[in-house]
Amino acid sequence: MDNEVKDDGARQQDRAGKRVLVADDDNGIRGLLSEYLTDEGISVIEARNGQEVLAALKVDPPDLVVMDIRMPELDGIAVLRQSQGSDVPFIVMTAYGGSNSAIQATQLGAYDYITKPFDLDEVMFTIDRLFERQRLTREVRSLREQVGKRDPGERIIGISPAMQEVYKMIGRVAGTESTVLISGETGTGKELVAQTIHSNSTYRSGPLIKVNCAALPETLLENELFGHEKGSYTGATEMRRGRFELAHKGSIFLDEVGEMSLNIQRKFLRVLQEREIERVGGTVAIKVDTRVIAATNRRLEDEVAEGRFRQDLYYRLNVITIHLPPLRERKEDIPLLVEHFLDKHRYSDSDKPARISSEALQMIEQYVWPGNVRELENTIERAVVMAQGGVLTSHHIIFSGRSERSKIVDVARMLREQAPLRAIIAEAEKLAIIEALEQANGDRSKAAATLGINRQQLYSRMRDYGLSA
Ligand SMILES: Nc1ncnc2c1ncn2[C@@H]1O[C@H](COP(=O)(O)OP(=O)(O)OP(=O)(O)O)[C@@H](O)[C@H]1O
Ligand SMILES: [Mg+2]
Repeated sequence: MDNEVKDDGARQQDRAGKRVLVADDDNGIRGLLSEYLTDEGISVIEARNGQEVLAALKVDPPDLVVMDIRMPELDGIAVLRQSQGSDVPFIVMTAYGGSNSAIQATQLGAYDYITKPFDLDEVMFTIDRLFERQRLTREVRSLREQVGKRDPGERIIGISPAMQEVYKMIGRVAGTESTVLISGETGTGKELVAQTIHSNSTYRSGPLIKVNCAALPETLLENELFGHEKGSYTGATEMRRGRFELAHKGSIFLDEVGEMSLNIQRKFLRVLQEREIERVGGTVAIKVDTRVIAATNRRLEDEVAEGRFRQDLYYRLNVITIHLPPLRERKEDIPLLVEHFLDKHRYSDSDKPARISSEALQMIEQYVWPGNVRELENTIERAVVMAQGGVLTSHHIIFSGRSERSKIVDVARMLREQAPLRAIIAEAEKLAIIEALEQANGDRSKAAATLGINRQQLYSRMRDYGLSA
């Protein structure tokens, strides 16, 4: 999320009523910070050493502790150790970033660290980010509680305008019998939306039957969908009902509908028009009352233009379309989704979700997510396991980068999806770096030289794109 564009009103609201404990044995720094934060509308209490911090945590816990690591008597690390299990977040101040104490503090659950000498605006930025995340966590939790009462299943997470639009559409169509087409790249949540439509529809007491049209060759798919009569072909020893029949009084989810052959499309069109099917080898029409939900990650208009998809079927399907934008176009949903997946994927039944360092979250926000929400979910799940229940740091975030394999930036596709130039360039840059590293057999100096940048620049880009050697 861009700091510049963040709504000032929301920031003020997040700060309202917050109490911050500033802990430093250095009177000068403590005074400076207190004064600055007070000017920014935050109420401040002070501590001069670790003992005072622990006492304050016990007596009247603040919303946040900003604490120097090096303090006499009880230092910051000791304080963090002794306050494990407390819900109060810490931001620590250290002499060097990436130093041992900074790393140790993060592992002990400090939300973030600031290196001295610091810039006051940077301190404020870090604090605002924390307050924002706390609000998001609360929102996810209360949504979850509300929903938990009604629907223990999966729920759709997202606050971006694009997702709000999706919720509205779901609300509008769920109660109707209309056919719905869900479009979007892989992993954007098409199946989740289909499930949500079904479970809010008048067909919800019936089954939701799923068929992936890309998974089966034509004749098998035809059999799956329409069933067959006994003896309709060698090997058809029994009559078998197809999925359309099984979905009677329920919904059928046709995934990757763009992969249907023209022959099956013709039969499918008939289902939509006549609300009846004929089994393979059969002669009687069988009525089916089923809600059709189709999904595609192709652009069906293009398929129609290329003659691979029937236009009449397209019009029938396209009455109501719900488009799920790629994750890179709704980055404001990322922190919420991260919280959601941390909650969903606990480390061996731990009663608390794992926490994530702000550095790791930033890395996640910067990545382009070619595999969208599914890739994000897998990345978080893997990180939780790697961190073994501890705080997730940047070391635990490993991008699988499905697009790396392709080696070619699909500029045309990205343009069709209205990817901003920034995203296209980022993708190209990432691929160039991977290629250079591979050609140099992982030798970073060599790769940097090939790319005409210095090692430092290469490292920082590798970090941005989540690439390791
Ligand atoms: N907005 C969301 N909120 C919460 N979870 C989500 C969201 N979108 C996707 N997911 C989760 O991400 C995973 C992938 O979603 P889903 O299977 O619905 O994607 P898809 O669009 O059908 O992908 P594909 O085209 O590859 O089949 C699922 O585990 C789903 O629960
Ligand atoms: Mg799917």
